[in-house]
Amino acid sequence: MSYADLMVVVLLITALIILIVAVMMFNLIKLYANGTLNTLPFPNADERERQRLAAAAEAALITPKVPLFNRLMGLKPLSEEHELVMEHTFDGIAELDNPTPRWFMVLFYGSIIFAAGYLLHYEVLGSGKNQEQEYVAELEQAARDKEAFLLNPANAASAVNENNIEQSKDAVIIQSGAALYANRCTPCHGAAGEGIVGPNLTDEFWLHGGGVKDVFKVIKYGVPEKGMVAWEKSLSAQQIADITNYVLSLQGSKPANAKAPQGDKQP
Ligand code: HEC
Repeated sequence: MSYADLMVVVLLITALIILIVAVMMFNLIKLYANGTLNTLPFPNADERERQRLAAAAEAALITPKVPLFNRLMGLKPLSEEHELVMEHTFDGIAELDNPTPRWFMVLFYGSIIFAAGYLLHYEVLGSGKNQEQEYVAELEQAARDKEAFLLNPANAASAVNENNIEQSKDAVIIQSGAALYANRCTPCHGAAGEGIVGPNLTDEFWLHGGGVKDVFKVIKYGVPEKGMVAWEKSLSAQQIADITNYVLSLQGSKPANAKAPQGDKQP
């Protein structure tokens, strides 16, 4: 937690304390104002009687409330139970006809209907899949998705990486790499790869290895501390692969003004 965060927390706590104190002060002032404005803080006997009658009159207007639980359960209060007594008695014991609440009956019959539908759908007609069939179907779908993903050329391109790249001498690929190389790489490596700030890319000497995987890796991740840009953010994997093939095609081209070899000689 930084110093600024701490300050914010302290300020918030201070604000909270001020708020609480303000509310307490407000209540205190209200109490005081009531005491001074009300000349009759303690009612005498007549006043109390009047208040009692007023409260009783008010209470008489309100019909007694049936508690929520009783309403949900369809229960009658004890005073109304005589309405539920059934005709028969046994040894003087009467029976009450307490009906089951409607919501319960709806659920009860609803579940029977649901069960019938469920049985038909999954067991009799076989139109629904059980868990095992669902699992198998999902596996099949995943296999189809995977196949589609690998067959899609756009996705296959992004799958090229420093572990699976293979060198290509295809003219189209090298052409594409050359177009990408121009402008991006020429300021540092020269128009023909002869090397300026960056090393000569046409000789057999490499700082980071001259294999196709090494070159791909350097272009992708760069050597930031040495001034070589990481291109993975601005170029697609396929583009980096094309440039890699172009760079490798420059081997032994012996351009003019070639920079002196750097690094180790690679076979
Ligand atoms: C801002 C300058 C700069 C740009 C732009 C640049 N490079 Fe480099 N590059 C360097 C430097 C500097 C090095 C040497 C890094 C080191 O000393 O480790 C280097 C190293 C390399 C290497 C490794 C060479 C070796 O000897 O192992 C390759 C391959 C390479 N760059 C390719 C490229 C490509 C392809 C591009 C364009 C997409 C590019 N570079 C753009 C500066 C640059």
